[in-house]
Amino acid sequence: MPGTVLIGLQWGDEGKGKVIDHLTGAVDAVARFQGGGNAGHTVVIGPKKFILHHLPSGILHPGKTCIIGPGLVLDPVTLAEEVDVVRSEGLEVEGRLKIDYRTHLILPQHRFQDRWLERRRGAGKIGTTGRGIGPGYEDKAARIGLRAGDLLDPPLWEAKAGPLVEAKRRVLGEEMTADLDLEALLAFRETHGPALAPYICDTVDEVNRLLESGREVLFEGAQGTLLDLDLGTYPFVTSSNTTVGGVFHGAGVAPRHIRSVIGVTKAYMTRVGKGAFPTELEGDQGDRLRDKGAEFGSTTGRPRRCGWLDAVAGRYAVRLNGVDTLGITKLDVLSGLEEIRICTGYKVDGERLEGFDARPSVLSRVEPVLESHPGWGEEIGNAGSFEDLPETCRGYLQRLEAVLGARVGFVSVGPERSQIIEMK
Ligand code: GDP
Ligand code: IMO
Ligand code: MG
Repeated sequence: MPGTVLIGLQWGDEGKGKVIDHLTGAVDAVARFQGGGNAGHTVVIGPKKFILHHLPSGILHPGKTCIIGPGLVLDPVTLAEEVDVVRSEGLEVEGRLKIDYRTHLILPQHRFQDRWLERRRGAGKIGTTGRGIGPGYEDKAARIGLRAGDLLDPPLWEAKAGPLVEAKRRVLGEEMTADLDLEALLAFRETHGPALAPYICDTVDEVNRLLESGREVLFEGAQGTLLDLDLGTYPFVTSSNTTVGGVFHGAGVAPRHIRSVIGVTKAYMTRVGKGAFPTELEGDQGDRLRDKGAEFGSTTGRPRRCGWLDAVAGRYAVRLNGVDTLGITKLDVLSGLEEIRICTGYKVDGERLEGFDARPSVLSRVEPVLESHPGWGEEIGNAGSFEDLPETCRGYLQRLEAVLGARVGFVSVGPERSQIIEMK
């Protein structure tokens, strides 16, 4: 059972990219299984910072196989830019990047529609990343989507492009512009088909062969548990299954191949976009976390909303995903605070709630029950082991294990590749 899944336990941006990069050395392949260009996974190597949207965060390790599974929605324009950046570092991409022929494509029509819908939502807007994700998955479910494999078959592309453009015309009406019409879509294939062709294959077969022959595969989640289409804070979610179940259909593997589920969480909490956030800190305390944690979106540059760690939501995420190992990130951001707080319960109208309630109507009204922890003054970026951490910091980690209900396996103490502690 050599498969490991890594999932974000919050509203995304937990530091998944950094932890995946750390783990890649010990695996044969890294596979994405959902999401698309809405993801922004950061890997910092010395003075260089890489932000990956589609490419698995293992791509910066020479020789490792990197898979884009059938569950993603793939934007060929953004992917081409990512591939160029990686190549400019002297890293070979051909032969190790594999894109499934079933993967649906994000087209200029989807990006346009995403932004157009957000404008029309007015006050009810979701705060999407504008990357076309919702409309892309919509067309997949409506069975009119264009897929990566279609790029290799011009007559098929042409046959499918007409109905897709018609569907967009029905939605967008007069706002349908010339760059979204049939001719533009046919030209899109001519531009992007040849660039993607070397990578398109059957990744489901590939990933199963790897697993059956005892190779290690790391499945890289994007977004986070609370943004899951079914289990998250709907409608303020993304349009894919970000929780562990997404791996099975999004990569085409069976549950028996999964040995371990790693859940990544910040030592506090952030959210970009709209929706309830019970532990959100406004004013100076929120600004302090944002400044020290450099909490600005990797994909959109938007300031992230910041707050204390919500262990009620955290326990929900640990349970849903069957997390056995926790990766705690950004612990260094809490250095220098006199007091740190954790939300261990919710109250609504003075009554204690049992567990997490994903309904925005309830979540927006809950009062967090906060417990207090002593902080630590020292910076911890150079800590190489658990023993190097200040005593109150070690106590905070032990408390996180208790309130989240899983063992801490990794602790990240800075953005750089080397700033990570493996617990014994
Ligand atoms: P992802 O989407 O889950 O991969 O997370 P992002 O890359 O969007 O956001 C995490 C941000 O925090 C990035 O800028 C990382 O470089 C940075 N980061 C990751 N781990 C740490 C850490 O332990 N400490 C600090 N200070 N920054 C970190
Ligand atoms: P990574 O993989 C944080 C949020 C958006 C918005 C909602 C829907 O880097 O953790 P979408 O564009 O998906 O339709 O937007 O989901 N969102 C993310 N927030 N990290 C992400 O990805 C996100 N991907 C989407 O801000 O609230
Ligand atoms: Mg991110």
